[in-house]
Amino acid sequence: MNYQPEPFRIKMVEPIRLISKQDRAAAIKSAGYNLFNLKADDVYIDLLTDSGTGSMSQYQWAAMMTGDESYAGAKSYFRFSDVVQEIFGFEYFVPTHQGRAAENILVNILVKPGQFIPSNMHFDTTEGNIRAGKAFPVNLVNENAFDPSNLDPFKGNMDLKKLREFIQTTGPENIPFGSITITNNAGGGQPVSLENIRQVAEIYHEYGILFFIDACRFAENSYFIKQRETGYQNHSILSIAQEIFSYADGAWMSAKKDALVNIGGFLAVRDNNIYQKICNELILKEGFISYGGLAGRDLDAVAVGLQEGLDEDYLAYRTGQTAYLTEKLSSNGIPVMQPAGGHAVYLDAGALLPHIPPHQFPGQTLAVALYLEGAVRGVEIGSVMFAYPDPDTGKMVHPRLELVRLAIPRRVYTQSHLDFVVETAKQVYEQKNNYKGYEFTYAPELLRHFTARFKPL
Ligand code: F0G
Repeated sequence: MNYQPEPFRIKMVEPIRLISKQDRAAAIKSAGYNLFNLKADDVYIDLLTDSGTGSMSQYQWAAMMTGDESYAGAKSYFRFSDVVQEIFGFEYFVPTHQGRAAENILVNILVKPGQFIPSNMHFDTTEGNIRAGKAFPVNLVNENAFDPSNLDPFKGNMDLKKLREFIQTTGPENIPFGSITITNNAGGGQPVSLENIRQVAEIYHEYGILFFIDACRFAENSYFIKQRETGYQNHSILSIAQEIFSYADGAWMSAKKDALVNIGGFLAVRDNNIYQKICNELILKEGFISYGGLAGRDLDAVAVGLQEGLDEDYLAYRTGQTAYLTEKLSSNGIPVMQPAGGHAVYLDAGALLPHIPPHQFPGQTLAVALYLEGAVRGVEIGSVMFAYPDPDTGKMVHPRLELVRLAIPRRVYTQSHLDFVVETAKQVYEQKNNYKGYEFTYAPELLRHFTARFKPL
């Protein structure tokens, strides 16, 4: 498979090093077999997340030098606001320091205990914020999402029938807002089609439910729409994005993804009443409404990054990297989620380690093995991240897929880095029958993957 050349060249380098196998074994042991506890310096290829880990361009760095650090009404705020207005088109917006701050504000002002928030699939912090508000996140993605070999081009789509039935049985009065995540991070970074977004909006609105989009990878999703959805081949990425958000009542975004920055986010709405409540909550928790927990220079970096993230050469290279890694792994027999998603490759740990049951964490086992073999750091997206006790029975409900995500930071690693990841995965694959699972020695109640500790069985 061809590798799409980088549409940039490298002007500044950050050295990385591969520590010895013995040192890796010692490092992961003292990290309690949780890759979040490692020193980043002990990681060679860091695919833990694509969030805040990208490289900024010379234009973003230059824009940071023009940051206006006024407490209120800074020029940087208006530059950010103009770009958000152009792409997303919402009347009101506030910056936040990252995506989860926006989620937290939204839950605090709109959600009452015992209520339900449907989505295709919620990602971890969204789920965590909803559960922390004593409400229930509900995932209604279409069935194809659970079959890693299914080649449906829009595996992130909401199951419209399930959504309608869910609203009818739950009652719209118990659903303060509904959402959709683009692309679907918990389910393989798979895109949602514009047709699906339009229909989801129609259903929510038919029942008088507010529709919010979790927008952090909106540019990658828009690019897939252009590539894969009939009728959009001649549309610009900007116009596709504008159409997506035209159907929603609001959106939140972790700018650490498709806005190509190391920190930042926002929350945007159409309704002035909701905006007023957001402002009050923001001032308490994040900062004044024109900076929302960010420095002025951060706002400028986001303003430039949002526009760069829409560039088609960049998006072709970006999605090309993911497709390249997916194809290389798959052609070596390693089970991966197909088709390639936007920001990450998802290894199917359930299929690779079928002898390890969900409660012994096949995904965690695979993630640790990749570190031990090549100091490659991915993240488990399976029973560590997403198993919760059933509220009625108390029995653990395991997610339907046990995945390990190898997220590709934006504009950071080259083809030879990805080839190194493939070689590492091949070595793990050869030893797959020898691996044993893990058990918790510590786990908090919510968002346990971040701080849990394990011991090998
Ligand atoms: N929504 C989605 C779909 C996300 O992927 C994330 C973060 C958030 C919300 C929260 O944003 O981190 O800025 O507070 N995902 C990262 C990841 C952390 O690794 O996928 P945040």
